[in-house]
Amino acid sequence: MLEIDLCGIQLKNPTILASGVLGISGSLLSRVLTEGGAGAVVTKSVGPVRTGFPNPTVVEVEAGFLNAMGLPNPGIEEFIKEDLIPLANKGPIFASIFGSDSEEFARNARLIEPHVQAIELNVSCPHVQVGQIGQDASLTKEVVSAVKKAVKIPIFCKLTPNVAPQDLIKIARAAQDEGADAITAINTVRAMAIDINIEKPILANRHGGLSGPAIKPIAIRAVYDLATSLDIPIIGVGGITTWEDAVEFFLAGASAIQIGTGIAWKEITIFKSVCEGIKHHLKRKGYANVSDLIKRAHRSIKK
Ligand code: FUM
Repeated sequence: MLEIDLCGIQLKNPTILASGVLGISGSLLSRVLTEGGAGAVVTKSVGPVRTGFPNPTVVEVEAGFLNAMGLPNPGIEEFIKEDLIPLANKGPIFASIFGSDSEEFARNARLIEPHVQAIELNVSCPHVQVGQIGQDASLTKEVVSAVKKAVKIPIFCKLTPNVAPQDLIKIARAAQDEGADAITAINTVRAMAIDINIEKPILANRHGGLSGPAIKPIAIRAVYDLATSLDIPIIGVGGITTWEDAVEFFLAGASAIQIGTGIAWKEITIFKSVCEGIKHHLKRKGYANVSDLIKRAHRSIKK
């Protein structure tokens, strides 16, 4: 009832660990698949070595978290050796990669392809320069095209909500036209918090990305809008903490969902509880599987 086929990859359920949360080591990824019950996991974003931004890099705000980590990672080769090779055959693993241009994206995709089932292109981090790629349709096109030529496994392009709504669709269509197999929507929302005592922004980087329940309605809007104009699957992400949230994303047009900050609100078994809730909901509604929910919220506006 919960199994899905995502771009030719069989998942036991439609819940996926979002990039950047617990995906920092192979052993945590493995726990999310086994103990947590996720259908698949996305690694943290890896690419050229980066130490990341100084602290503070994370702050809890109302209904969410603000983070500006700065894409810290040990470098893609090191990550493969230390964390991905020991994970071989543990379950569907998707690699989140970044690069400064299309060549670097393609190189990173080639290196990581043998160790994962799909690649998610992080062109959308809201507070690093490489994240600006995803705000521009032609740069996004170049990256997707280069990676598509470099690898055979499915590629998902993760988009930013930090653009005008019509641009979000334009950028997603550019990715689709170049062969992206799915769109992941959305990355975090560019935001800021200020400490009223020291009278300065709290994050060392000043700006960060907002995640958690605060951004769910923005993510739902993005998925809904994208679903009106794309033919490829959409992986919905942004503020999911309950099975009801997941169902809302399917109704908006998502074919699968990712959970990230939700783990901080609940715990690692959030994937299992979301799946249980979806299953009961499907039974109650008399639906056979998740695909019966996808895009149902679009019905009433169809002429
Ligand atoms: O700061 C960070 O590493 C966040 C990356 C992202 O949101 O994609």
